[in-house]
Amino acid sequence: MEQRQRIFSGMRPTGKMHIGHYLGALRNWVRLQEEYDCIFGVVDWHALTTSFENTDDLEQNIIDMVLDWLSVGIDPERCIMMIQSLVPEHAELHLLFSMITPMGWVERNPVLKQQLQDMGLKEVVGYGHLGYPVLMAADILIYKAVRVPVGEDQVPHIEISREIARRFNHLYNTVFPEPEAILTETPRILGIDGRKMSKSLDNTIGLSEARDTIQEKVMSMYTDPEKIRKNDPGHPERCNVYTFQGVAGNPRMREIENDCRSGILGCVACKQELASFIIPYLDSITPYRERYNGKEQLARELLSEGSERARKMAEYTLYEARSAMKLAYRF
Ligand code: AMP
Ligand code: TRP
Repeated sequence: MEQRQRIFSGMRPTGKMHIGHYLGALRNWVRLQEEYDCIFGVVDWHALTTSFENTDDLEQNIIDMVLDWLSVGIDPERCIMMIQSLVPEHAELHLLFSMITPMGWVERNPVLKQQLQDMGLKEVVGYGHLGYPVLMAADILIYKAVRVPVGEDQVPHIEISREIARRFNHLYNTVFPEPEAILTETPRILGIDGRKMSKSLDNTIGLSEARDTIQEKVMSMYTDPEKIRKNDPGHPERCNVYTFQGVAGNPRMREIENDCRSGILGCVACKQELASFIIPYLDSITPYRERYNGKEQLARELLSEGSERARKMAEYTLYEARSAMKLAYRF
């Protein structure tokens, strides 16, 4: 039987998932598990790169995140779910890659620049933070994954992974494929305040959030800043509420567009309409929410078994990498 191509993707354990995670990456994870051999990682070391001081919530965040993965349809029978820190081979490959990665690649990393700007920082948090994409390359390449489903913000990181793979293969021996990013049709989702949806900005709509808080959040969403009064003409192409109407499957897109532009439809009414669509939409994308509600122990078991299986694969690739570098000697 032909071996299926492999996918790896990961998420930092920041807790419950929001609709940006789903629309940017998770929905591709669900779709791709039909065709590919998938490994999905809880990348806890990556979470430490910027938030190393307080690790009290890490364990609960891992469980909450994985239960949300299961609730949208990540199928534990078909894919491996693992924890990065339980597969220490990622760290050794990261170390080997760090030797062959020129400083310029990590210093010029546009994701890092954006992150520093968002966090209001002048320089990187630390050595591990600078090496973020090198660790990410190790996560992907230790499984020889050829496709990586992520949101748009991660594309430059996949490009660095490709460069590291190419450089390793050129220097030693061909061990690694050059992985490619897979994006959804909605690779960058904005939050209720119009900035990128992100837990740290407190502008999210959570997949498993109480439905009445969702109603309130939708009513507080930013709209086109030029439409101040109800009858002002609006610009749907610049309005996040309009984008969400499409995502939530509102069949009246054409009328909304026309009525917004002509000033017949005000933002309050438009948001009320969105709220009535988004709640059933959230229910529809979390079909297994009830089934996995409170199944913390199951999540732990799946992660523990998955990490063991992943480790077997990782050990093999690491052996190949060491051999290629002529490090696999025995004394
Ligand atoms: P993170 O929580 O940053 O580890 O992100 C996990 C995955 O979700 C990555 O593939 C991100 O690119 C994706 N993601 C996170 N936030 C968004 C967003 N607002 N829009 C699209 N994709 C996102
Ligand atoms: N950097 C990714 C993010 O913030 C998470 C991540 C770590 C990842 N390692 C990965 C994603 C490997 C894909 C593949 O979202």
